[in-house]
Amino acid sequence: MVKVITIDGPSGAGKGTLCQLLAKQLGYHLLDSGALYRLTALSAEKQDVPFDDTEGLARVAASLDVEFRPVEKGVQVILAGEDVSSAIRQEHVGMNASKVAACQPVRDALLQRQRGFAEAPGLIADGRDMGTVVFPEAKVKVFLTASADERARRRVMQLEQAGLDADYAQILQDIELRDKQDRERKSSPLKPAEDAVVLDSTSLTIQQVLDRVIALT
Ligand code: C5P
Repeated sequence: MVKVITIDGPSGAGKGTLCQLLAKQLGYHLLDSGALYRLTALSAEKQDVPFDDTEGLARVAASLDVEFRPVEKGVQVILAGEDVSSAIRQEHVGMNASKVAACQPVRDALLQRQRGFAEAPGLIADGRDMGTVVFPEAKVKVFLTASADERARRRVMQLEQAGLDADYAQILQDIELRDKQDRERKSSPLKPAEDAVVLDSTSLTIQQVLDRVIALT
């Protein structure tokens, strides 16, 4: 069986960086499941599909024409031939992704596509429900968290490094709202799998987090 390591947790806990480092170190494939929800939200916006049109959103999710192209500095995301790597990272797209992700038909439409990423020699699966729903049989499951303050601080640093404006109070508010939406929704709410190891990264460096996860494999 293909070895799957699931890394779930709230936004900004450091999952993205951790998963890229893990995939590189272990030579595994990488599934950024959040990108699929972001792509669904972006496509719906481009096609004028309203966020309360459940069936329309599910159709958008099922027909996503997406390619994840590995490049030197990570992964390029191509949607219908267009590079949307930066576009899907915008705050409002994350917020809209959280809305479409609450819709069960969208989750159903993306389920098999996500499972298809599990190929030899192994997969690092990054998301909210990787250990609970998409890969319940995974042998190593991690739930990575950090305080909302620390996650907002890291996000501000990331934006500033990219030369973008960052408003700490606004970012903290968005993070808290997105956490609430993700935790309280009926479909696949954000929560640790019963057999997940919970890791709080608030006062850990990325290297310390990486070492702890590698020790579990
Ligand atoms: O991880 P990222 O911030 O890119 O995810 C965007 C949104 O997609 C999350 O806020 C969450 O609502 C949704 N998501 C999800 N299930 C996943 C991954 C992401 O519901 N497995």
